[in-house]
Amino acid sequence: MGSVGAAMGTEKITSECVEVPLGERSYRVEIGNGLLSELGGRIRAAGLKQTQAFVVTNGEVGGLYFERVRAALEQVGFTRVVRHDLPGTEAGKNWEEFTGTCAALLEAFPDTGSVPLVVLLGGGVVGDLGGFAAGVFRRGVPFVQVPTTLLAAVDSSVGGKVAVNMGGVKNIFGIFNQPRLVVCDLGMLETLSAREMRSGMSEVIKYGGVCSRALFEQLEAPGGVERVLERDPGVLVDVVAQCVRLKAAVVAQDELDRKGIRNVLNFGHTVGHAIELSASYALTHGEAIAVGMIAATRLAIAVGVCGEPFLDRLHGLLERAGLPTRYPAGASLFDAVIRAMQMDKKFRDGRNVFVLPTGDGSWVQRENVPWDLVHAVVREALSE
Ligand code: NAD
Ligand code: GLY
Repeated sequence: MGSVGAAMGTEKITSECVEVPLGERSYRVEIGNGLLSELGGRIRAAGLKQTQAFVVTNGEVGGLYFERVRAALEQVGFTRVVRHDLPGTEAGKNWEEFTGTCAALLEAFPDTGSVPLVVLLGGGVVGDLGGFAAGVFRRGVPFVQVPTTLLAAVDSSVGGKVAVNMGGVKNIFGIFNQPRLVVCDLGMLETLSAREMRSGMSEVIKYGGVCSRALFEQLEAPGGVERVLERDPGVLVDVVAQCVRLKAAVVAQDELDRKGIRNVLNFGHTVGHAIELSASYALTHGEAIAVGMIAATRLAIAVGVCGEPFLDRLHGLLERAGLPTRYPAGASLFDAVIRAMQMDKKFRDGRNVFVLPTGDGSWVQRENVPWDLVHAVVREALSE
């Protein structure tokens, strides 16, 4: 881990590099402003030698940034850069789009002699679906994540979980497939909507809540949340790098999610994912997770692992970030949410495994939370 152009006195940090240490699957997450024009050089510096690329993106993001990506790749000798667009919403993170992407890969690269570099230019939908396709094409071709949302920068582009939704279950078909490099040009967040910035902020607050008291307190300080949402370049680099470091440390200990350690990254996701699905994606991922974090914190208080003050502090941060803390429009969704929770990957032996905050930047896992408590917090989450 290290920083390039590091902060000196009042000077702003211009870029940071975080290593995800996974032995032979280790890679760098390069975070800064203006990195897109250097994408080609950074790909070569990572040892990637391909001269043909398959860029997965969507109409909106591709319209804004594909030509810059193409130019950056051609500068370092790429002779062919194929663009493939996905739909722009979560509803497009599905099996049909996944197989469509696999078919497009095969059509563009039918020759076994030409291994393309897959470049994922977009948010979590592009990253999750595209990383899955790269992982199964010819049993795996290299891919680079170029996250364009705050959420993808702090979370989904790092750690190698790639998947699509099916049958009303989030991320049910997928694999672990680590990128070879992540190039995160935060300048691209300039064109992201305010709502999507807030959505990414939810995952930032998640890290503060259960992984880092220092980050939580930094966000609580005057301007802590607001300067991120305003896209202050130096603050963004600092906060994104902190989140990526926290995620890298978790992934390094439990890459394949088998030891229970990686569960921490699912704070707010048990109820959150269920609401996201049951509401047919009327809420963004981050908005649903915000509601889910409040529900998980209420459970933590009910089972005695967390004090009331943390709920107030979390509530305060989410409100400052303009995120919902309940989903009143979903009052009729109670049964659907409970059913969806039972499809969660952490549902075992008739019970959900909950990630509960302790209120001091840490967490515990509980598998035996009584159903009446679970029902009460879900009702509260869906109440007016
Ligand atoms: P997203 O990928 O749907 O992008 C949100 C919207 O922003 C899209 O409409 C997109 O076109 C637009 N957009 C993206 N970048 C833009 C830019 N720079 N300028 C203008 N518009 C831009 O949403 P997301 O929040 O990035 O990702 C959510 C997904 O990530 C969910 O499917 C979630 O399950 C997944 N996720 C995965 C992980 C993981 O570890 N793999 C972690 C967290 C979330
Ligand atoms: N976003 C959850 C994980 O990466 O494990």
